[in-house]
Amino acid sequence: MKETRNILVTGGAGYIGSHTVVELIQRGYNPIIVDDFRNSSSEVIDGIEAIVGTRPVTYELDVTCKSDLSKVFATHDLDGVIHFAAYKAVGESVDHPLMYYRNNVDSLINCLELSEVFGVKNFVFSSSCTVYGQPKESSIVTEDTPIQEANSPYGATKQMCERIISDVHKSGSSLRFLNLRYFNPVGAHPSSHIGELPLGRPSNLLPFVTQTAAGLLNELTVFGNDYNTVDGTCIRDYIHVVDLANAHIKGFQWLELQSGPALETINVGTGHGISVLEIIHTFEKVSGLQLNWAYGPRRSGDVEQIFADTTKAKNCLGWEAERSVEDAIVDAWNWQKKMGDE
Ligand code: NAD
Ligand code: WQD
Repeated sequence: MKETRNILVTGGAGYIGSHTVVELIQRGYNPIIVDDFRNSSSEVIDGIEAIVGTRPVTYELDVTCKSDLSKVFATHDLDGVIHFAAYKAVGESVDHPLMYYRNNVDSLINCLELSEVFGVKNFVFSSSCTVYGQPKESSIVTEDTPIQEANSPYGATKQMCERIISDVHKSGSSLRFLNLRYFNPVGAHPSSHIGELPLGRPSNLLPFVTQTAAGLLNELTVFGNDYNTVDGTCIRDYIHVVDLANAHIKGFQWLELQSGPALETINVGTGHGISVLEIIHTFEKVSGLQLNWAYGPRRSGDVEQIFADTTKAKNCLGWEAERSVEDAIVDAWNWQKKMGDE
């Protein structure tokens, strides 16, 4: 086996991609980033460099442009692909479905076709807990929990991409596949050099909390307090983005151990459900601030409660989350404050 493995990281300047690139470099891998910065910035590459001391090779190009992407495959002797590049906002996908289908599905197909042409062996795909919808039987979901009809075009793209990968696997492809179904990634790198960069008004909870505390937004609305949960607010499985990044390292190592074609799908969460109110109270505790928030109506399409059964991640990958939600909130708040200082 080669000493240094080259891994193409599409969307490597994005939130999860950038944290994964840091962990890859720190473990001796050579990530090659492809990102056109449509939902990130070239400054993220500076942040990565500030943490690891080297600048990852980066190509600014659109993954849906196959001819451009093929030049990257032709230039580097790739050992694997981690495919993050996609649009990810549920609400936006309802308003712009074609944009979502075009980007999320085309980018995957290009990566798969080129992996086959160039004989790349290992492929990690960023999937999402969104594929489970509101689970019928229990809020704790295993990978075998039946998938529900997607309640957004975004969710449908993740289901389609998993289906495409499954069909390619069944067709006899020599690729080894790993679909990682992320739950709710939160937090930032503890160095505060990289973190989440929501463009415009955030739709996810934690950036909304930190931006409200920083005075960029007036008030956080808690969407619903009449759910059948401990305190009436929704329950999610919030996972620190550095833990999530590390799941990719374990995942890649697992792929490399497979002797032939493979396909696994694995939940990446903490296994614990946390309510919206608990997030707010933990934020207030770690920041020493009082957050301006109020109850509002339920948000349409919200699932009442869902969290991951992480048994497969432990047994198969030898991975489990190490950081608490408190760690994630501390890191997210430090990152928000750092952005305010710049
Ligand atoms: P992000 O938007 O921060 O990162 C995606 C990156 O891909 C961005 O840097 C963007 O510029 C780039 N990109 C998008 N389309 C591109 C294209 N056609 N060509 C080149 N670059 C392109 O998102 P993220 O939160 O880091 O999510 C990464 C992946 O994880 C996505 O596939 C997303 O669906 C999935 N995911 C995210 C979450 C979440 O809550 N953040 C949860 C589950 C799954
Ligand atoms: C979390 C909780 C809201 C904002 C989304 C995608 C999912 C996955 C992860 C990509 C919910 C509540 C939120 C606010 C609130 N992404 N909330 N006030 O909806 O669990 O998942 O991100 O794959 O596909 O759907 O995350 O952060 O939007 O919400 O009360 O201003 O916070 O109702 O209960 P969600 P979220």
